[in-house]
Order: sequence, then C-alpha cells, then structure tokens
Amino acid sequence: MTKELRIENLRVAIGGKEILRGVNLTIRQGEIHALMGPNGSGKSTLSYAIMGHPNYEVLDGSVTLDGRDILTMEPDERAKQGLFLAFQYPTAIPGVTVANFLRHAVTNVRNPERKEGEDLIPMRDFRKELRQQMDELGMDHDFARRYLNEGFSGGEKKRAEILQLAMLRPAFAILDETDSGLDIDAVRIVSEGVNRIAAKNSTGVLVITHYERILTYIKPQFVHILFGGQIVENGGPELVKQLEKEGYDWVRERYPEAAQTEEALQLAAKQQQVQGGVQPVF
Ligand SMILES: Nc1ncnc2c1ncn2[C@@H]1O[C@H](COP(=O)(O)OP(=O)(O)OP(=O)(O)O)[C@@H](O)[C@H]1O
Ligand SMILES: [Mg+2]
Repeated sequence: MTKELRIENLRVAIGGKEILRGVNLTIRQGEIHALMGPNGSGKSTLSYAIMGHPNYEVLDGSVTLDGRDILTMEPDERAKQGLFLAFQYPTAIPGVTVANFLRHAVTNVRNPERKEGEDLIPMRDFRKELRQQMDELGMDHDFARRYLNEGFSGGEKKRAEILQLAMLRPAFAILDETDSGLDIDAVRIVSEGVNRIAAKNSTGVLVITHYERILTYIKPQFVHILFGGQIVENGGPELVKQLEKEGYDWVRERYPEAAQTEEALQLAAKQQQVQGGVQPVF
C-alpha cells in the first residue's frame, strides 16, 4: 500500500523567529522530490520540524503520515513510523560504534513494540546485512568498529548516513545536502545507493540540494523551490536547469514579498552570527 507524507500550511519558528511561513508539500511512497532554495531559506528547518527536533517550534499547520498526525509524536516514534533524515551536519557520538548504533536503531525500527532491555536482532544476521550494505556503498568494513562520525571526513559522514538509510529502509527519507562534501565519484556511488534502496523499498525521497549534479543520478519527478519560508514554485526537472543557469534572481523578481522576508531573515541570521548566537543543532 502506498503511504503519503502530507505537509500542510506548516509554520515553524526557531528562537522565536518564524522561518517557515506556510509550507505545503505532499510526498507519496515511490516518488522522488527535490527541494531547492537559497541558503537560509529553511530547508533544514523543514527537515528538523518533520523529524521532531525540540528546538523547532511548530506554530501552525500539520504533518501527517497516512492521515496520522506525526507532530505529536517523539522523534523515535516518527522513525518507527517510517521517517528518516540524513543530516546536513551529522554529529559525532563518541563511544558508540557505527555497528552498535545501527544494531539498536535497526532493532527498534523493525520491532517497534520492543521494550528497552529486550533482545536486539541476532548479531550474525545483522553483521551479514551490514557488511553487504557497506560493500554496496563502497565502505571499508573497519568503519563499523569506529565511533559514529568521530573523525569521519565529510564524505565518510555522508556515506554513514546513507548506510543508515540502507539498514533502516524507511518509507520516507529526507536527504539534506547529502551531496555536499562528496567527491565526484562518491556522489555517483551514494546516489546509486539511494536509487537502489529507494527502488527496493518504494521509499518516498526528498532530496535537498543546491546543485544539479546529484539530481542527474537521483532523478526527481517533482522539484520545489523554498523561498522566503514558502514553497513558491513546484515543477519538474526543468526547474533545476533553470536555477543552475540563472540562479535565484528570477524567483526574487517573481515573488517580491517572499524576497523581502528572505532579506529580513538573512539580515537577522547575520546579526545572530556576529553575536555568536547560532548554535549547531543536534
Ligand atoms: N538554532 C538557531 N538559532 C537561530 N536561528 C537559526 C537556528 N537554526 C537556524 N536558524 C536560522 O533559520 C534560518 C533557516 O535555516 P536553515 O538551516 O533551515 O536554512 P537552509 O535552507 O537549510 O540553508 P542552507 O542551504 O545553508 O543549508 C536561517 O536564517 C538560520 O540562521
Ligand atoms: Mg540546510
């Protein structure tokens, strides 16, 4: 059965500042969507709000998965419902190995009724599956024994995110700038991995990116532009081409009101940076 992730009129604030001002977006399983937009337009904010990051305050609107309100759920519950986010800036978890982290996460997502302290999925099966997925992503098996993201290069962090995607097999995956920091070969390997995983599990994918390159591998049917806290344009791959060629000036001209909001947000962000106020999230 095809599930549907529906975002309606979503308004989100962070630190008392409204960033998302009524976002509408529906993704069905098996669909590939791309979300583009200038720096600071709220793409990561949208991802965090969907996943339930506590710093992001939902002011209005709804996010439902097959009609069920997910905004009242804890982040782990959202993951059990089949949502996954590959972070733009994955954080290190010193002391927790990749293998250990994944064995817990996979167990919890696959057996949602499991209570803390109950058995994890059998080591032999888990290890076999993990190795297979690492091979497909071109990752050295030694990685599994390292602490999650600790000392990982930018590209290694992104691969580790996709390894999680492969192991967790969510119904919906948000990939927040998974291409940033990847070398040219890695973009292809990671993208092929995403395509393979998405096809196998009929995953609905939202690819957040600034660049055309990743979208030549992960081909979106739907492309959206987030600007001034709203999705102002919905189209197909031709939008990607247009942005690549012309940048965002035509968007600014077409949506002057959103452009004003955008400018105000950028200014506020700059002031906050000067004061050292913007904290890394998660
Ligand atoms: N913890 C925070 N405190 C204050 N402002 C924040 C915080 N996190 C994000 N913001 C602000 O929210 C706005 C949207 O940020 P967000 O990270 O969602 O943008 P983005 O579209 O993902 O940008 P990029 O393309 O650079 O990743 C920015 O102006 C940013 O400075
Ligand atoms: Mg971002």
